[in-house]
Amino acid sequence: MKEQLTIAMPKGRIFIEAVELLRKAGYDLPPEFDDSRKLILDIKQENMRFILAKPMDVPTYVEHGVADIGIAGKDVMLEEERDVYEVLDLKISECYLAVAGLPNTKIQDVAPKVATKYPTVASKYFREQGEQVEIIKLNGSIELAPLIGLADRIVDIVSTGRTLKENGLVELEHIVDITSRLIVNPASYRMKSTEIDDMVDRLSVLIEGEDAS
Ligand code: PRP
Repeated sequence: MKEQLTIAMPKGRIFIEAVELLRKAGYDLPPEFDDSRKLILDIKQENMRFILAKPMDVPTYVEHGVADIGIAGKDVMLEEERDVYEVLDLKISECYLAVAGLPNTKIQDVAPKVATKYPTVASKYFREQGEQVEIIKLNGSIELAPLIGLADRIVDIVSTGRTLKENGLVELEHIVDITSRLIVNPASYRMKSTEIDDMVDRLSVLIEGEDAS
């Protein structure tokens, strides 16, 4: 019998692109799926259960094995450092992590303040650059920090660049390109390899096809 797969999906921006990708790969996800407020969605015809989590929490569900599979941004993977397999680059939700700030500001502090939702990534980046900084952890609207004097710089996601532009900020350094990844719980990969390999194969064929076109 086919094993049921539980998939942790990130609520928000990535969700729409991830659902579209799964549909293109042939998964029959009903239209109600797109705007449901339910946090657990059982798709009987596919023998799949979807759980809808905050993007930053997806690797936690997968690491603990309550989800077999998850879709998580590389930014989240770098920040969370969870014990999961990253099996496929889904090549959706492309963006990048960057350092940004107000234009033409001279930073005089020994340890300038950097506001970010990504303290681990930011600390590692500045350590590698040999720069001493003070990290201030925020949970969103990071661009606000330099505007009101909470921080000298920010480390945040840039997608279209609109948020930086509309808030008068400029990009200073490019840190790393980001796309969404398919992640798998190691024990699930052993126990449900047929179903998981099938999903990886279907998605890989699709992604390679889209890359070639
Ligand atoms: C993200 C990110 C930037 C913005 C970048 O925030 O943190 O603020 O999107 O996108 P852009 O380059 O297309 O403008 P999000 O909207 O996810 O909300 P948040 O501020 O709560 O993190």
